[in-house]
Amino acid sequence: MGKIKRVGVLTSGGDAPGMNAAIRGVTRTAIYYGLEVIGIRHGYHGMIHDHFVSLKAHSVSDILARGGTILKTARSKEFMEPEGRKQAYENLKKAGVDAVVVIGGDGSLTGARVFCDEYYDIPFIGIPGTIDNDIYGTEYTIGYDTALNTVVEAVDKIRDTAGSHNRLFFIEVMGRDAGFIALKSGIACGAEAILIPEVHGQVDNLKDYLEKGFKRKKSSNIIIVAEGDEEGGAFAIADRVKDDFHDYDVRVSVLGHIQRGGTPSAYDRVSASKLGYAAIEALMDDQKSVMVGFHNSELDYIPFRKVIKLKKKVDPEELQMVEILSI
Ligand code: F6P
Repeated sequence: MGKIKRVGVLTSGGDAPGMNAAIRGVTRTAIYYGLEVIGIRHGYHGMIHDHFVSLKAHSVSDILARGGTILKTARSKEFMEPEGRKQAYENLKKAGVDAVVVIGGDGSLTGARVFCDEYYDIPFIGIPGTIDNDIYGTEYTIGYDTALNTVVEAVDKIRDTAGSHNRLFFIEVMGRDAGFIALKSGIACGAEAILIPEVHGQVDNLKDYLEKGFKRKKSSNIIIVAEGDEEGGAFAIADRVKDDFHDYDVRVSVLGHIQRGGTPSAYDRVSASKLGYAAIEALMDDQKSVMVGFHNSELDYIPFRKVIKLKKKVDPEELQMVEILSI
C-alpha cells in the first residue's frame, strides 16, 4: 500500500450520539500524522455527489459534546449499485483521497466491504456507529450508551405515572433488527418483561405472566418492546393483550427518535474518541477492510468479512435473569 496522504471520513446510516467525537478523533489523529483530512458530507451519497470539504484541527472544535453528526448522514440506495460505487471511486481518486474511515452501522460497513472488494487501492476502516449496538465483533457501538440512558430516563418517568394508575404500559424502543436497547434498558428499569426480535413466541409467555395475576401484586407493569419484534411493535402487542385481559388498563408509549439525540454520555465520548484515534492508527499500520471495535474493553480490529457475515447474539441468560428479577 502506498503512503497515505489524504484520508476521507464520513458518517452513514442512522446518526448516533458520539459520532462527532469519533470525527474529531479521526481528524486530529490524522493531522498529528501529517495527513490531510476530507470530510465527506451525507455519507455515501456525498461520496457519489462530490460533497467533499476540507477538515482542519479547528473544524472539529466544540463538537465533542454535540449529538448528531456535523458531517450529516444518509442511507444511500445509489451506493448499493455498481454504477454508484464506480462514481464514488472516481470522485475519491479525483479528490486525491487515498483512504476512508466510515462511521456507521451494519449497512454502512456492508457498503464499505463491497466497495473494498471491487476497488483495492483505497483502504477503508470502519468504526461501529449505531445506537442499536448490533454489530458483530464489538461489544460496543457509538451512541448505545447515550441512547440507553435516554430510554432509562423516559421509562423511569413512565413508571411514576404507571404506578399511580396501576397501569400496564407497553413501551417501544428502537432496534429494527435487534433487541439490545430493549434488553439492557429493561434490566436497568426493572421491566416486568422484554420482547425482542431475537426470541420467538414471547407474547404467549407474556399472557401466561399476566394470567398469573401479577397485577394484583404490582402497582405497575412495564413491558419493553423492541420495534423490530415479530408481533409488529408495541401497539400491535397491546391490541392482542387488550382483547384477552380487559382488567388491565393498558397504555402504549413509543419513544422514537428521542433515543437518537442528545449530548453524548461521557462513556460515548471517550469510546468514540478512542475508536477515531484507533482508525487512523490502523491506517498507519497498513491495515484495510477492518472495523475498529472493543473486545474485553480493549481496542480490537475485526475484518469486515466477519463483521458482515456473523450476527451478534443476545445473552439468553440475561433474558432469564429478567424473568427471575421481575417476580
Ligand atoms: O439503526 C438505528 C436506528 O435508530 C434503528 O434502531 C431504527 O430502526 C432506525 O435507525 C430508524 O431509522 P430512521 O431514522 O431512518 O427512521
